[in-house]
Amino acid sequence: MLVNAKEMLNKAHNEKYAIAHFNINNLEWTRFILEECQKQNSPVILGVSEGAIKYIGGEDVVVSIVKSLIKDLNITIPVVLHLDHGSSFESCKRAVDAGFTSVMIDASSHSLEENIAITKSVVAYAHPKNVSVEAEIGHVGGEEDGVADELAYAKVEDAVTLTKETGIDFLAPALGSVHGLYKGEPKLDFDRMQKINEILNIPLVLHGGTGIGDDLIRKAITCGISKLNINTELQIAWSNAVRDFVTNNQGVYDPRKVIKAGEMAMKEAICKKLELLGCVDKV
Ligand code: 13P
Repeated sequence: MLVNAKEMLNKAHNEKYAIAHFNINNLEWTRFILEECQKQNSPVILGVSEGAIKYIGGEDVVVSIVKSLIKDLNITIPVVLHLDHGSSFESCKRAVDAGFTSVMIDASSHSLEENIAITKSVVAYAHPKNVSVEAEIGHVGGEEDGVADELAYAKVEDAVTLTKETGIDFLAPALGSVHGLYKGEPKLDFDRMQKINEILNIPLVLHGGTGIGDDLIRKAITCGISKLNINTELQIAWSNAVRDFVTNNQGVYDPRKVIKAGEMAMKEAICKKLELLGCVDKV
C-alpha cells in the first residue's frame, strides 16, 4: 500500500520508535527491501535520490517499478515513495506529478529566507495532492567531509522559523551526521535535537544513518528522531557479498545470479536495522 509519510511518522514520533528510510538504486534493491520489510511487518520509506532517478530511467519508471512490485509481490505493509534531497521546486514537482507520495526539498545550501520561500512553494504544491514534505535546516555534509562541520549544524531558532513558516510535515536538522562513511565517531548534538523536538513536536529526520552506533541511534530516537536515512550501509553489504561471489565464481556471467548474490547480505542488514529502530510489527 503506497501512502504518504505523515501518519506513519507521527505515529512513530508519538510512540518513540523510528521508520527506516532505505535508498533504492535499482529494481532488485527495491524488491529486496520490500520483501524484507513485509517479512518483518514493518512500514518503510523508499528514498530515491535525483541521481538514482536518472540512473533508473526517470520518475515514471521509479513509480512504475514500486507500484508493480507492491502489486505483484502482494506487499501489504505501508510503503512511502519519497524523493530524497530534491534540489529545486521543479524536481519536487516532477516527483509529485509522477506519483511519489512524499518529497524532501533540500534548500539547505540557500539562505534561511530562500530556504523558507522554496520550501513553502513545495508545500503549497504537494499538500493539496496529499504528498508529505520534508525540509532540511543546517547542512548535512557529504562523504568528502567524513566529519560534520559544526558551523553547519542547525540553529534551534532557524529550525523553528523554517518549520512554522512553511508547514512542513517533518524536519531534517543537521546535527552532526554526514552522508557516507565517518572519520571517527559522529558528534551528534543531542541537546539541540531535544530542544528542537520539545519546541516543534514534529517528527525529526536523521540523515547519514550509516556508521552511527546503535546506542547513538537509540538515544536519537528518544530525542525525536522518527526517520533514519540509510544508504551506504546497504551499498556496502550488497557490494561486499557480490564481490565475494564474483571472486569465487569466475565462470558465472548471468546478471541475475550476480545481482542476487547480494540479496541475503542486504536483507540481513535491513532486518537488523528494523529491529534497532523498533519498527518491526508496527504496521
Ligand atoms: P548514508 O549513505 O550515510 O547512510 O546516508 C543516507 C542518507 O542520509 C540519504 O539521505
